[in-house]
Amino acid sequence: MTFFLEDISDHQENIKIPFINERNCDQLPKFVYTPHCVLKTESLLEDFESISLPCDCENICSEKCPCSSNAYYDGKLSKNYDNHTSKPIIECSDMCSCVIKCNNRVVQHGIQFPLQVFLTDRTGFGVRSTEFIPELSFVCEYAGEIIDESEAYRRLKSHTPDESNYIYVLKEHSSDNKHIQTIIDPTCIGNVGRFLNHSCSPNLFSVPIRAGSMIPRICFFAKKDILPFQELTYNYGGHCTFKKSDSRPVEPCARKCLCYSSDCCGHLPFVEYNWLK
Ligand SMILES: C[S@@+](CC[C@H](N)C(=O)[O-])C[C@H]1O[C@@H](n2cnc3c(N)ncnc32)[C@H](O)[C@@H]1O
Ligand SMILES: [Zn+2]
Ligand SMILES: [Zn+2]
Ligand SMILES: [Zn+2]
Repeated sequence: MTFFLEDISDHQENIKIPFINERNCDQLPKFVYTPHCVLKTESLLEDFESISLPCDCENICSEKCPCSSNAYYDGKLSKNYDNHTSKPIIECSDMCSCVIKCNNRVVQHGIQFPLQVFLTDRTGFGVRSTEFIPELSFVCEYAGEIIDESEAYRRLKSHTPDESNYIYVLKEHSSDNKHIQTIIDPTCIGNVGRFLNHSCSPNLFSVPIRAGSMIPRICFFAKKDILPFQELTYNYGGHCTFKKSDSRPVEPCARKCLCYSSDCCGHLPFVEYNWLK
């Protein structure tokens, strides 16, 4: 028996995102679809206040553009872009005087590949593309409610150990050495990104990007060429927090990783390890 839903985004993305379950009758959990992040409270906006100036380039931006025109090449992330050392990516926006075809506009054009949510054989629902995705292409965002630390703490504490965890914590350093933390929870309000599973050998990686607003968008790009129907995954810890050879005892709450890659660390990165005391 196959269960099929035509578009989980209900026409809110520029491409339909179907759900297909060829294994059993399990249906998707109920959640409200949003293509971009929403602020849980308006007061959180103050955390993101510093607006960058628009550019006044004519037509298509060059390397001299004050926006991040070097980050992209040919509609994809540039090969030289280094997630750790490069400046944050700020796309040109409606306020800039360049054209919509400017090279410095990628994630704002939305999802380009035909993504599909499906039931995997061991890690619940997952995401795949029915078409080939070339290396460094933009795949999708991680959208959800932006919440503060106390709300995240409250939500995490109310989880039972076997419940799925969807909270994503982004930490950035701004130029004035300030620490910006963005916490995204797509459990109740979220997008297709909430169904991406973890792998210790992932084919996606995330980059924070500003496009039209100073609220960061967590954007997933292809780490390598991805064949059609291969599951799309990223490393929940950014990097591995446990090593097979580690003599430290693994946190008792850490969940067994079922990615089955040859580099598997054995456990899912433990979110409380990263930021909650
Ligand atoms: C963000 S959700 C991913 C979507 C989830 N599979 C679902 O059905 O909604 C994260 C949860 O998926 C499961 N998961 C993701 N990757 C996994 C992995 N490599 N091994 C075991 N469970 C995984 C865990 O339950 C985790 O808390
Ligand atoms: Zn531009
Ligand atoms: Zn420009
Ligand atoms: Zn693993």
